[in-house]
Amino acid sequence: MSERGGPDPDLLAAAREAHLEAYCPYSHYRVGAAIRTASGAVVVGCNVENAAYPLGSCAEAGAIAAMVAAGEREIAEIVVVTDGEQPGTPCGGCRQRIREFAGPEVVVHSVAESGVTWSTTVADLLPHSFGPQFLPDEVAHNKLSR
Ligand code: THU
Repeated sequence: MSERGGPDPDLLAAAREAHLEAYCPYSHYRVGAAIRTASGAVVVGCNVENAAYPLGSCAEAGAIAAMVAAGEREIAEIVVVTDGEQPGTPCGGCRQRIREFAGPEVVVHSVAESGVTWSTTVADLLPHSFGPQFLPDEVAHNKLSR
């Protein structure tokens, strides 16, 4: 269980709703993600699979796309709800996607359908991560511009 306090109840409810909408006829593993942005907005995503398997996308990727499309660039908190008894943590690719828009101390809550919750930080999920600081200044500066 979390040592950091559980997820915001409204954010958890949004992630649970998105989890129920997952399109996962191949894995039968539903995932929903909800992000609270720096401005307080809530955006959601779910996994969307495809008969051409590699084209499937993760819930976190969907939520991040929705966040950017809404004009937001900063994750304040994220909740991921997965099927099963134990919470599934974000995959490696999604850890990097989250890291693009979240500081190292941002809390990531992984919640199983059963309610079991594990809360950690971006820095713990993706230590020594690659980020814009490694890119030349003129490239990195484009991160927050539109
Ligand atoms: N999945 C996510 O949506 N997020 C993750 O971080 C891990 C995996 C999805 C992808 C696929 O639709 C299903 O879970 C099984 O891997």
